[in-house]
Amino acid sequence: DKELVIAIDGPAGAGKSTVAKRVADTLSYIYIDTGAMYRALTLKALKQGLNLADEDEVAAMAKETEVKFKKVNEKEKVILDGVDVTDKIRTNKVSNNVSLVAKIKAVRERLVKLQREMAAQGGVVMDGRDIGTVVLPDADLKVFLNATVEERTMRRYEDLKESGEEVDFEKLKEEIIRRDEIDKNREVSPLKKAEDANEVDTTNLSISEVVEEILNLCQEV
Ligand code: C5P
Repeated sequence: DKELVIAIDGPAGAGKSTVAKRVADTLSYIYIDTGAMYRALTLKALKQGLNLADEDEVAAMAKETEVKFKKVNEKEKVILDGVDVTDKIRTNKVSNNVSLVAKIKAVRERLVKLQREMAAQGGVVMDGRDIGTVVLPDADLKVFLNATVEERTMRRYEDLKESGEEVDFEKLKEEIIRRDEIDKNREVSPLKKAEDANEVDTTNLSISEVVEEILNLCQEV
C-alpha cells in the first residue's frame, strides 16, 4: 500500500489532535501537530515579553527559533530551542495569545516550510488550520473536523481541568469563539475547509467513531 498524506483541519477543540494521533498510530504513520509549533513560538514570545502586535519583533524572534518534535518513550515531545515545552504550550494563556502570533505572515512562511519538509516522505497525518488548503494542497485525504462550540468548549474545559487549570466555562467559550474568529478572518491562510475536504461533525461521535470514519475514508483513496 502507498503511504498516504492525510490533512486534518478544523476549529479549536474539534478533536483534531486526539484523532490524528490515533489514526497515525493505527497506520504506523508520523503525526505532526502544527498547532504545537505556533504554540511554542507564542510561549517564547510571552516569556520574552514581546509585544505580540509588533509583527516585525515577533517575526525576528521566530527566525532565530528552533521548533522540533522528538519521540521520547513513545511520546511525542515538542522541543523549543532544545528544551521540552510539551506541557507548557497547553496553558490557557498560550491558547489565548497564539492566534496573534499565527496571523503573522513571516511566522507562517517559516513554519509552513518546516511542515512541508516533515511531510515530504509521506506516511503522515498532519493537523492544523491550513493543512488541506495551503501546507499540503495535494494531500491524498483531507478531513475537516467540526463540532458545536458548546461541545468544543466542553472538551477544552475537561483537558484544562485534567492538567490542573481551573477555568470558567462561559469565559472559555468566549475565548474559543474569539480565537476561531481571528483564525478564520486573518489575511494569510485563514482557517477554512478545503473544497475537496471531507467534513465530519464530531459533536455526537466518540473518538473511536471519528477514527473509524477517517480510516474508512483512507480505504476509499
Ligand atoms: O491546534 P491548536 O489549537 O493547538 O492550534 C493553536 C493555534 O495555532 C490556532 O488557534 C491557530 O491560531 C494556530 N494554527 C494555525 N495554523 C495551523 C495550526 C495552528 O494558524 N496549521
